[in-house]
Amino acid sequence: MHLNSNFAGFHLPMSTLKEQIDIEKLPQHIAVIMDGNGRWAKQKGKLRVFGHTNGVKAVREVSEACAELGVKHLTLYAFSTENWNRPKEEVGALMELLLKTVRLEIKTLIKNNIRLRAIGDLDSLPKATLNELNEAMEKTAGNTRMDLILALSYSGKSELTKAIQNISKEVAEGKLDINNITEDLVSKYLYTTHIPDPELLIRTSGEKRISNFLLWQLAYSELYFTDLFWPDFNKEELYKAILDYQQRQRRFGKTGEQIQSQTA
Ligand code: IPE
Ligand code: IPE
Ligand code: MG
Repeated sequence: MHLNSNFAGFHLPMSTLKEQIDIEKLPQHIAVIMDGNGRWAKQKGKLRVFGHTNGVKAVREVSEACAELGVKHLTLYAFSTENWNRPKEEVGALMELLLKTVRLEIKTLIKNNIRLRAIGDLDSLPKATLNELNEAMEKTAGNTRMDLILALSYSGKSELTKAIQNISKEVAEGKLDINNITEDLVSKYLYTTHIPDPELLIRTSGEKRISNFLLWQLAYSELYFTDLFWPDFNKEELYKAILDYQQRQRRFGKTGEQIQSQTA
């Protein structure tokens, strides 16, 4: 039996972490910045690409764990617009890995009733990768258990810029009154239309920054950082993040006392 000594010397069977999760207070949407693949590989004396390949296992684990728990939306930051500036070989390998992974996982997604979606500047992806992705999205479009959303060639600033352009266009054409530009309306012009904002953001690898991810949508998310590199992240680590989230008091500007009296 696996043991963990998470709680000050108590040795609990691993399964208890999952059991401790309050299903009533599950985040509906979890977003993840999957970071540290390169350093993970380097630590092992391997090339960075080896880290990316091993990161796929963690993607599978976290997707499965979220679906099993009943999380409705899982957004994974897989490639940022800034990542295009990496060495050509690494970018090529990542696009190839994405293509192969989508091709390989499609059956599992269908079997598990998971809908694949993508956000970002998808047109900038290589044709073959985009085709594979589009096919998987079409084949899973009717699935209802969970949305698995890949952020690809994604930039929060560019998402907001596009929204501003599109809103301005509507105003200029007389189709939209400036007074009707509300926060709800702005949300509808983002890639994440109809997807609730993430309650929980997880970032691996010890970095504590947002890196241009979901700038609008993360406005009130709880942030969880772990020093683990992404390929070492797994179901148990996800349970720890959710448990940590569930112990927090989300105040949204109110006082702790107000929140307590609301939930009492
Ligand atoms: C995250 O791991 C994966 C991508 C950004 C594609 P990194 O490749 O950033 O790994 P580190 O941060 O260099 O270790
Ligand atoms: C953020 O990771 C993007 C993804 C995880 C895809 P990076 O490793 O690119 O982030 P920075 O540049 O170190 O902030
Ligand atoms: Mg990184």
